[in-house]
Amino acid sequence: MYAKIETMNRVIISPSILSADFANLEREISKVKEAGAEWIHIDVMDGHFVPNITIGVPVVKSLRKATDLILDTHLMIENPEKFVEPFAKAGADILTFHYEACRDSDHVREVIEQIKSFGVKAGLSIKPKTEPEEIFSFLSELDLVLVMTVEPGFGGQEFMHDCAMKIPKIRQNAPDGLIIQVDGGINNLTSKICTSLGANSLVAGSYIYGSGDYRKAIEGLV
Ligand code: DX5
Ligand code: ZN
Repeated sequence: MYAKIETMNRVIISPSILSADFANLEREISKVKEAGAEWIHIDVMDGHFVPNITIGVPVVKSLRKATDLILDTHLMIENPEKFVEPFAKAGADILTFHYEACRDSDHVREVIEQIKSFGVKAGLSIKPKTEPEEIFSFLSELDLVLVMTVEPGFGGQEFMHDCAMKIPKIRQNAPDGLIIQVDGGINNLTSKICTSLGANSLVAGSYIYGSGDYRKAIEGLV
């Protein structure tokens, strides 16, 4: 792992490179780093779990060489257990997989243990239709919970307010130190809703990369 992941009492911004210029990723990442970002959110999609295909292992490996920012890797894929080792070896610092991609609780626990066995932080994500109570039993084993506030698959969608109401339920049942991240439709207004409800990491793609001033956009989220 490149840097210590520490989030006590502050909000971590994780710009999603899904909305960046893919022909110039190194430059796009340097620009958000200079603008104050500490993490980079990498959206991995397989065309099965979600109806889109994006980034794979070789890109993460190249990004690892290009930046010391935390690589916050969001796996929107089926069979996550098949890809934990390759993404861990490629240099991911955080691997977040989907609860809905797992067969049962044992499967969820196996993937969490597998991620941790590589010294990588383990995250579990829930889609908009999944109730937060379904993941309560895993909270003590996790480093991060990702609450999706859009249907995963594409950037630039509208924030789903109902989903944000899951945040306090998770926070109330979470051990100290659990990172609660939100992803989808985050801008300078929806970010405040999420942080006031207990989120301490915000993913933002189109809001940051679609703005003319990355620093102003990042500062506007907190
Ligand atoms: C959507 C992805 C998001 C996406 C967010 O499936 O998981 O990370 O990049 O994009 P915005 O911030 O534009 O909603
Ligand atoms: Zn994402």
